[in-house]
Amino acid sequence: MKVFAPVETGDGSSTFYSEAFGERFHSREGACNEAQKTYVEASNLAERATEKRLKILDICYGLGYNTAAALETIWQVNPACLVEIEALEIDVTVAKSAIAQNLTKRYKPIVQTVLQQLAAEQTVQRPTLSANLRLGDARQTIQALRQKSWQADVIFLDPFSPPHCPQLWTVEFLQQVAQCLSPSTGVLVTYSCAAAVRTALKQAGLFIGSTRAGGRKWPGTIARYHDAAGLPPLSLQEQEHLQTRAAVPYEDPTLCASAQEILELRSQQQRVSNLLPTAPWRRRWK
Ligand SMILES: C[S@@+](CC[C@H](N)C(=O)[O-])C[C@H]1O[C@@H](n2cnc3c(N)ncnc32)[C@H](O)[C@@H]1O
Repeated sequence: MKVFAPVETGDGSSTFYSEAFGERFHSREGACNEAQKTYVEASNLAERATEKRLKILDICYGLGYNTAAALETIWQVNPACLVEIEALEIDVTVAKSAIAQNLTKRYKPIVQTVLQQLAAEQTVQRPTLSANLRLGDARQTIQALRQKSWQADVIFLDPFSPPHCPQLWTVEFLQQVAQCLSPSTGVLVTYSCAAAVRTALKQAGLFIGSTRAGGRKWPGTIARYHDAAGLPPLSLQEQEHLQTRAAVPYEDPTLCASAQEILELRSQQQRVSNLLPTAPWRRRWK
């Protein structure tokens, strides 16, 4: 098995570096801190856990920190909550490497056991928890959820950054993701504040807000079907970003294009776009 080498982050927790994507799996400021702030706290999971049931879609499971942080919070608030987790991941050796190197040790033993079982067997079925780790390209594995009309209360969207993994930030993929979000209760959270990502979320029919997660230099994004009232508003800087060519979204009409193809298509579209050039915006706000 390929083994990823741990890289320590600012909060003492470890992450990995991906040679294939040329990027770390988490921010330098702190991997577990990111799971807690950017995903669990931004989605208000502690309050949602007071409900009888909770359904979570964890896109890009990786080492499993987002799922771990979610379970720890839910079980602290309401151990009786009936939790369903669907997690999507292309490379199971990431989760297996994390387990083999005991990187999940800061989570409670019960949470560690769930993560171990997910890495080994890809499914956990308990009286109050049903969790599945669906292996493969998320553009394909999400189809099974759509086909059974499965909809999440909370979606964690955590791919590598758009320039390194544009496949999972396209309008077409995010349309599939939006179909897996509950129209009444659902909220999607991501670390990305990229203008192209925010435009794609809007084109997928969602309203967007800005999340200020502790530790990170940039805000993240929260999205849902409700009108924007109540969502943390975008700053003037963020609103103006959406008027620039940085906001030209990634597209993948067949949902099977390569990263290279998606990047090239977007570059072509940026060249002919009516939107403002991004350089003046960058100078104005630097
Ligand atoms: C930024 S990391 C996610 C970190 C993770 N959420 C965690 O808490 O450890 C991105 C993950 O996306 C996975 N990935 C990359 N391309 C994918 C694809 N097309 N479908 C599903 N997963 C993919 C990578 O293997 C990697 O584990």
